Amino acid sequence: MKRKVQPKTTKANPMWGGQYSTGPDQVMEKINESISVDQQLYKQDIAGSIAHCEMLVKKKIIPAQDGKKIIKGLSQIEKEIYRGKFEFKTELEDIHMNIESRLHDLIGDAAGKLHTARSRNDQVALDLRMYIRDALKVVDGHLEELQTALLDKAQTYADTIMPGYTHLQVAQPVTFGHHLLAYVEMFGRDRSRILDSLHRMNESPLGSAALAGTSFSIDRKMTAKTLGFDRPTANSIDSVSDRDFAIDCLYACSTSIMHLSRLAEEIVIWMSQSFAFISLSDAYTTGSSIMPQKRNPDAAELVRGKAGRIYGNLLSLLTTLKGLPLTYGKDMQEDKEPVFDSLESISLCIAVTTGMIKDLKANSQEMLDATNKGFPTATDLADWLVQNLGLPFRKCHHIVANIVKMATDKSCRLDELSLEDLKSIEPGITSDVFNVLSVEKSVASRTSYGGTAPSNVKRMIKEAKKRFGIH
Ligand code: ARG
Repeated sequence: MKRKVQPKTTKANPMWGGQYSTGPDQVMEKINESISVDQQLYKQDIAGSIAHCEMLVKKKIIPAQDGKKIIKGLSQIEKEIYRGKFEFKTELEDIHMNIESRLHDLIGDAAGKLHTARSRNDQVALDLRMYIRDALKVVDGHLEELQTALLDKAQTYADTIMPGYTHLQVAQPVTFGHHLLAYVEMFGRDRSRILDSLHRMNESPLGSAALAGTSFSIDRKMTAKTLGFDRPTANSIDSVSDRDFAIDCLYACSTSIMHLSRLAEEIVIWMSQSFAFISLSDAYTTGSSIMPQKRNPDAAELVRGKAGRIYGNLLSLLTTLKGLPLTYGKDMQEDKEPVFDSLESISLCIAVTTGMIKDLKANSQEMLDATNKGFPTATDLADWLVQNLGLPFRKCHHIVANIVKMATDKSCRLDELSLEDLKSIEPGITSDVFNVLSVEKSVASRTSYGGTAPSNVKRMIKEAKKRFGIH
């Protein structure tokens, strides 16, 4: 690619002091800037600066008079940004320098005192931590709403029988409510992963300065407390080079989208005419521009599709950090885009999934017919033989295989075979066996803890609400 070389007449960045006589080349400015991305951190940046300033005043490192001006100026800048009245400048690189420069415009030289005992290295580490901390709490709230929607649907369909699959082959009858509760567990684990990472990341790097700490008598415990952290980080070198909290966030998003995409895939399958287990309303489907009969599950497909970019974001940051020597390297500026993208995508995917769950209606008859197609009570029959004839399970497995073959030949269900038919294969069978051959009886019998019986499902909904703090 050919590019014009910019004449180096642009003004030197005043933040760099006297050493620089000209500004950067145009492409240098382009690769170096992060303001187009990190302006999202403005609230955290200002909160961090105010806490830092208050501490500098308290420790008599800067005069109270200047502190007042700084805080007033920062509050005004926050309003300007919020109202879209702030002019972000690429030549000022990032959010930290844009804000500091504007502060200088507003209050003059006192602005220069804010950066005492601080560097952009601890500043950016702080801002991103606070951003992720806030955002993950929001994601946790979205996941709770999704769990609530699933629990409500599970209640509606606690008795609805559907095929339970392994290998996507009909295995045993289950209840739709039970199947939905499986996802409540997954999203519960996602929430606990978020909580776990929130505990770990809740330490403040502010005051680690560039990498070595500072000779000013700062109070890091004070700023940590003001900003809602449990404690300051313990090692200044680690503090400015650590992005584990961002990795934890990206991993939590990845696990969650993995679960969401499994549910999305099931919605796609269930909606297909070949299954017809559920329907979604106009609100969550789209039509086709050519096939008038179509009703496509685009929302579910997009949730499934977003897994790619969310996994990609995790791998992207892992790769950026791999092999980086301590401490800060500009490579680390690449940490924000994947984090912002994953957080935005996961929130959207959870919201859309919650909408689909609330919206979906089950077609109980189709589900029941599909369940009956696959001899799903074959295991119940084998269990009956073990319990009533005292035969070893392996032998019963064999007997049932022959009974299934007979039903296949006769194109009927197991409970449609006559007692004579059954006796012709195993003479010990009595009419009592019909108590376990229907799918209704099969699910009703699965009362072991965590099992699929409708009575269990109703109990487990209450238990899950307690366990996950859902009212
Ligand atoms: N914009 C930078 C980032 O996002 C801030 C830290 C810059 N530090 C430095 N020493 N150049 O990582």
